[in-house]
Amino acid sequence: MTTAKIVIHQSQFPAVVQRDLIHSLRTGRVNHKFHYDSVKQTNQWLALHQAHSPARNDGDCAATYDRAFAGTIATLGSTAIHVLGLGCGGGQKDTRLLRLLGDAGKAVSYTPCDVAVAMTLVAQQAALAVVPAEKCFPLVCDLATADELPEVFAGPGPAGVARLITFFGMIPNFEPGEILPRLAALLRPEDTLLFSANLAPGPDYPAGVQKILPQYDNELTREWLMTFLLDLGVERDDGTVWFGVEDEATGSGLKKIVARFQFTQPRQLRVGDSRIAFPTGATLQLFFSYRYTPPRVEQTLADYGLKVETDWITQSGEEGVFRVKRV
Ligand SMILES: C[S@@+](CC[C@H](N)C(=O)[O-])C[C@H]1O[C@@H](n2cnc3c(N)ncnc32)[C@H](O)[C@@H]1O
Repeated sequence: MTTAKIVIHQSQFPAVVQRDLIHSLRTGRVNHKFHYDSVKQTNQWLALHQAHSPARNDGDCAATYDRAFAGTIATLGSTAIHVLGLGCGGGQKDTRLLRLLGDAGKAVSYTPCDVAVAMTLVAQQAALAVVPAEKCFPLVCDLATADELPEVFAGPGPAGVARLITFFGMIPNFEPGEILPRLAALLRPEDTLLFSANLAPGPDYPAGVQKILPQYDNELTREWLMTFLLDLGVERDDGTVWFGVEDEATGSGLKKIVARFQFTQPRQLRVGDSRIAFPTGATLQLFFSYRYTPPRVEQTLADYGLKVETDWITQSGEEGVFRVKRV
C-alpha cells in the first residue's frame, strides 16, 4: 500500500478557500492560487510549463540553475541541510538542488510546500528519488495568508539544521508588497534564500516584456486559465480571454503581463450561498505575471531588508537565480 502524509495548514481548509474564492470573484481579481487547485489544473500547468518555460526548454537555463546551486552549496558550511521549497510546484528544481546537495556529501531533508495538494504530492514523489521518505515533510499552505509563517516552518524538518529556502518562479505572480514582508519575516539571519524570477530580456525594458508575451498568449495557457472559469459554471462563449502588458499600480515602474476574461453576455455564478453577477462588458482579471530585470529584483528585495549576494542570469536574459540573505 502506498500512502503519503501531508500536513495541511488551516489557510487551505475548505471554508477558508471558499471565502477566498468569493473574495476573488467579488473584487474581479482572481487569486492565482485558484489556477492550481485541482488535479486537472495541476496537470495542465505542468504541461504548459513543459511546453513554454525556459527552465524546461532552454538548456542554458537548466545550466544556470546548476551553476547557482553549485555556487550556493559551496557557501554552506553545515553537513546537514533542510530545504524548504516554497511554492514547490512539481518540485523539479528543488529535486535537482537536493541531488546536488547529496552529491556534495550533505545529509538532506526537504519540506515541499505548495498551496495545491496535487503539486505538493508531485514534488514529494519527485524528491523521493534523492531524499529518504522519513526526511520529507510535505506541507500545504497559503503563503500569502497563513498566520505566523515563521512558526509554521519551525516545525517540519529536523531541529537545529541549516535551512536553504527556495522561492522559484513565485515573485512574478504576487504583488511584491503582499508576499515579500512575509518572506522576509520567515527568513532567519543564518538561512540562505535561493530566489528565481522570469526576467524581461534586453536593455529596452518595455520591448523585453513584449518579447515574452507569446509565452503567455497561447492556447495551452488560455485553456489552463479557462479551467477555473468553466469549473465555476462559466460557458466558453460567455466571453473572451485577453492578454496585454500593464504597469504596476503604485508607480514602481514594474510591468506585468495580464490576462483578463471579458464577458460578452451576462453570467451569474453561485459559490455556496453567494451569488456573483457579471454583466455584459464586465472583466475579471484571471492572472498576472510581473517581469523583473536583475536591478529591479535587487531593488525590490532591498525594500524588504533582503540582500542579493550573487546572481546567475541565463544567456537569453529571460531568467535569473539570486542568492539572498536577510540584512
Ligand atoms: C509558477 S509556479 C512555480 C513552481 C516551481 N517553484 C517552479 O519554479 O517550477 C507557482 C507555484 O506556486 C503555487 N502557489 C500559488 N499561490 C500560492 C500561495 N498563495 N501559497 C503557496 N503556493 C502558492 C502554485 O500552486 C504553483 O505550484
